[in-house]
Amino acid sequence: MDDIENQIIELKKIIKKAKKIVFFGGAGVSTESGILDFRSKDGLYNLKSKYDEPYEVMLSHSYYEENTKTFFEFYKEFMITSAQPNEAHKYLAYLEKSKDLTIITQNIDGLHQEAGSKNVIELHGSIKRNYCTKCGAFYDENYIKNSKGIPLCNKCKGIIKPDVTLYEEPVNEYAFLKARFAIEQADLLIIAGTSLNVYPANSLIYYFYGDNIVLINNDDQIINRKIKLFIKGKVGEIFKKLY
Ligand code: APR
Ligand code: ZN
Repeated sequence: MDDIENQIIELKKIIKKAKKIVFFGGAGVSTESGILDFRSKDGLYNLKSKYDEPYEVMLSHSYYEENTKTFFEFYKEFMITSAQPNEAHKYLAYLEKSKDLTIITQNIDGLHQEAGSKNVIELHGSIKRNYCTKCGAFYDENYIKNSKGIPLCNKCKGIIKPDVTLYEEPVNEYAFLKARFAIEQADLLIIAGTSLNVYPANSLIYYFYGDNIVLINNDDQIINRKIKLFIKGKVGEIFKKLY
């Protein structure tokens, strides 16, 4: 049997034995749905920007404030996609039916919930939730996608802002504390598809007090925590073999 097959058998055993599982994921969980991640060699931040600033700058609060129209042009094209859940999302929704599983995601695409997962903590918010900055009215992502230019509230003409955490904005404290609590209680932490580049999300791995850490990435990845199992590969392809 080749190495990956042994690793899949090992991962199945680790999941079977676990009582409280936390899955901590990033943009790499959605690349098999066709959504670019950020820092891979062909990720969004390494693409030549069509605008006056690099895409990483455009995802900041100050860019949103000073160039709102261009921000929304970029946001509609790159952030609101018609992507569907992939095998990684589907397996986690299946696993949640038989295991105490909490998903902590840095992604804003809502694909875990679309796959059927219920217990999902969205550290950086979601494209599915958009609120008028004046009256607080709720709008879905289609309203934003279909709006011309800057999306305006049809009740009070206020600007509608996506409920996503831009650079320079604080992470939702409640989401972070819920994530921290889940990790502190877990006996298995699966970290997949994230470069762990962004604070405070990346600090969460230090609140895990167990020794069962599984790391999955399609690149080589070193983190300064003791890893029980590292599987190099695409998380969707790996999870498809876990049933
Ligand atoms: N399977 C496993 N790993 C993958 C896959 C895949 N199919 N596709 C990509 N990866 C890996 C990449 O090798 C990379 O290490 O996933 C990681 C994605 O890292 P980033 O692009 O940095 O994404 P992420 O860690 O989620 O970024 C965190 O940065 O820009 C902010 O708010 C944004 O939430 C995002 C945060
Ligand atoms: Zn309004």
